[in-house]
Amino acid sequence: MDIKIVPLDESQLKQAPEKDFGFGNLFANRMFIQEYTAGEGWHDAKIGPYEPLVLDPATSVFHYAQEIFEGTKAYRRSDGNINLFRPWENMKRFNQSAQRMAMPVVDEEDHLDAILQLVELEHEWVPSVPGATLYIRPTMIATEPALGVHASSRYLHYVIVGPVGAYFKGGFNPVPVYISDTYRRAVRGGTGAAKTGGNYAASLFVGEEAKRKGYSQVLWLDAIHGRYIEEVGAMNIAFVYEGQRIVTPPLTGSILPGITRKSVLTLGADLGYETAEEMIDVHEMLADVESGKVTEVFGCGTAAVIAPVGKFGFQDKEYLINNNEVGPVAKHLYDELTGVQTGRIEDRFGWTLTIEANG
Ligand SMILES: Cc1ncc(COP(=O)(O)O)c(C=O)c1O
Repeated sequence: MDIKIVPLDESQLKQAPEKDFGFGNLFANRMFIQEYTAGEGWHDAKIGPYEPLVLDPATSVFHYAQEIFEGTKAYRRSDGNINLFRPWENMKRFNQSAQRMAMPVVDEEDHLDAILQLVELEHEWVPSVPGATLYIRPTMIATEPALGVHASSRYLHYVIVGPVGAYFKGGFNPVPVYISDTYRRAVRGGTGAAKTGGNYAASLFVGEEAKRKGYSQVLWLDAIHGRYIEEVGAMNIAFVYEGQRIVTPPLTGSILPGITRKSVLTLGADLGYETAEEMIDVHEMLADVESGKVTEVFGCGTAAVIAPVGKFGFQDKEYLINNNEVGPVAKHLYDELTGVQTGRIEDRFGWTLTIEANG
């Protein structure tokens, strides 16, 4: 793929901030974008100024939500270079999501090349502050300007990037989680395993309810039995039994196959923990929290990496986990994962792709 690099003029070149990044409100100066037309394929790839899209009000994505996205990060290493973490997995998942949503796939090599070129051009936007990173958001939207429920004949594929700080305002501290007894995020056979906007839209109502009740995330149960644990907020979830056994629900079709989840399973086993993928009944899990058999619970995802859960709220009762403190397994995995991501710890799994940006 030939990517045209559009030069930016002075007024389009903002200085990258050095701190106070927040999460998801700041964007670098440039973006990658390409177009798809049925019969022609992908064309007009370019990296140009970060700018608004002008779309017809009838554009199909606004009505039928045919869209997908990804989320990955670029990490500043202590030697000044930049690491991407398992970007190949994100590319694969992007295309799996595309297929589920009846969208065209992208060439994985080209897509990765677009990200590499964009990050290289915007390397000054990769923060050097510990814990801060450059968030990378590849997206594809259906752009046919016509009503009528069918797969679009036109698409835009673009990548935007921006510096982010900690996902949770409280940093690496336990979060309170609300277990929804009534609403479900996704169902087997539906779109839960795809990274598509509708899944997130469906989660907002309960997310707001949870916030009103004082919780920061929602634990989702399966939609068929209403009892098997699936995910927490926009993260996968793991339980630690007796300090040494890490268990996460299996990928049954309604759960997003998280790259952090996959890494926790590999890394956990490598660090000497027992790891397993098993169905977890919410009632049994809560009884195990009460008896002390479950010693830790944590969410895992790109944004927060590891997010310890301090308590669950379910049917007007609260269940405290590890005395609402960060547990040793969550801390261990967090340190190891962020260590590999930032190059502090040797990458023994070949997970990182380093971009030379050192001078
Ligand atoms: C619904 C959902 N589950 C799980 C994850 C975690 O996936 P990953 O570790 O690849 O970021 C995410 C975030 O991408 C998500 O949106």
